[in-house]
Amino acid sequence: MRIEVPSKPEEGAQFMGSTASKIAITVDDAGQEARVVAVAEDSLLKTMQGGGVAVAAVCGGCMNCGTCHVLLPVSVHALFEAPCETETALLETSDLYDPGRSRLSCQIPFDHRLDGARIILADDN
Ligand code: FES
Repeated sequence: MRIEVPSKPEEGAQFMGSTASKIAITVDDAGQEARVVAVAEDSLLKTMQGGGVAVAAVCGGCMNCGTCHVLLPVSVHALFEAPCETETALLETSDLYDPGRSRLSCQIPFDHRLDGARIILADDN
């Protein structure tokens, strides 16, 4: 039997390796802080919920309600692509809207860009 040994990791293997490391965030819910540690595999919203954080998400992550609004550190916010028009329109309905910090947590991936970040739940909905 001959076993093929790839000379370099396959693309998928490399991807899996890079996402297997844990990412840690701190979530501030009206002054109550929770630490969430997880691997990158879902949205920020789903990961916070999976970590026991009670995030409002009336539409279930379909970008229809705006209740999953979070404030990111400015330096972290800048690492993500700008929100689409629909997301921006929902964010702008919030009294806490900050164009340099606001995102819908259902619309951004939980990945290495969030590692170490303090996320504030914008509980105004
Ligand atoms: S959960 Fe409704 S917009 Fe994110």
